[in-house]
Amino acid sequence: MTYSNILVEYHEQIATVTINRPKALNALNTVTLQELSQVVHDLANNSSIRVVILTGSGEKAFVAGADIAEMNTKTPMEARSFSQLGQRLMNLIESLPQPVIAAINGFALGGGLELAMACDIRLAGENARFGQPEVNLGIPAGFGGTQRLPRLVGSGRASEILLTADLFDAQEAFRMGLVNRVYPKEDLQEQAMAMAKRIASKAPIAVQLTKSAIYKGANMDLISGQDYEAEVFALTFHTEDRKNGFRAFLEKTQTEFLGK
Ligand code: HXC
Repeated sequence: MTYSNILVEYHEQIATVTINRPKALNALNTVTLQELSQVVHDLANNSSIRVVILTGSGEKAFVAGADIAEMNTKTPMEARSFSQLGQRLMNLIESLPQPVIAAINGFALGGGLELAMACDIRLAGENARFGQPEVNLGIPAGFGGTQRLPRLVGSGRASEILLTADLFDAQEAFRMGLVNRVYPKEDLQEQAMAMAKRIASKAPIAVQLTKSAIYKGANMDLISGQDYEAEVFALTFHTEDRKNGFRAFLEKTQTEFLGK
């Protein structure tokens, strides 16, 4: 399938999805949100893909936000639909079976930071800049940022970011736990691919169930989350990969996981 605003590349068991509107700093307009939703939906049904990398094209931006020019003409009802379209995409990414790594190669602002926050792991280039500048435009965040940011960095820090619209750099994002790692910008994509390969070499069903337990658990109380964990733990005892993984350890050999 060909898209107008995104690129999709496959490298062994890893799919790299690149938002490709560099002239608009990869701003998310309706078409881009729809194309991303379509590709995420397709990847969910593609069992040969074990890890997804999400990044932006060009030197300057991951995603500089939702498309301000497109939003400018929206009615309140259209604005609600647009917000919900983005929210559905973020939820789709979060519930995708495969882990998603955001390789943040520049500005991650507004809807761009919200997109990164829907990913499982965030890696940043040292040139990355972050923020939720919506209040500069007279709007609040609208793709889940008011909900995910406090969950990730605590409500005090999230309030400061969302209410001041101040931008901050990759080191500050790292200090507050918003990104996992910071790399020289020329190393970012290579490091993201290396991490994706490490994850892709693990038992795919165990990886997917781990993601699922983290994601579902975030919306559950501790006891319910543990109940879910015990269920997915038991489920892996049906798999060949569990038997082969244990056998390889006990026999001091190696195994290649097959995802069954
Ligand atoms: C549309 C955008 C854009 C955006 C940049 N561009 N961000 N177009 N929507 N979010 C366009 C510019 O208009 C410009 O187009 C080109 O990209 C390059 O941007 P410049 O501003 O010339 O670059 P620079 O001076 O380097 O400044 C970079 C920047 C700035 C600091 C990132 O572009 C900026 O502040 N962008 C807006 C950031 C923002 O407010 N994001 C939140 C959006 S609201 P031309 O044609 O002039 O070359 C949001 C809400 C989400 O995300 C929820 C919705 C429901």
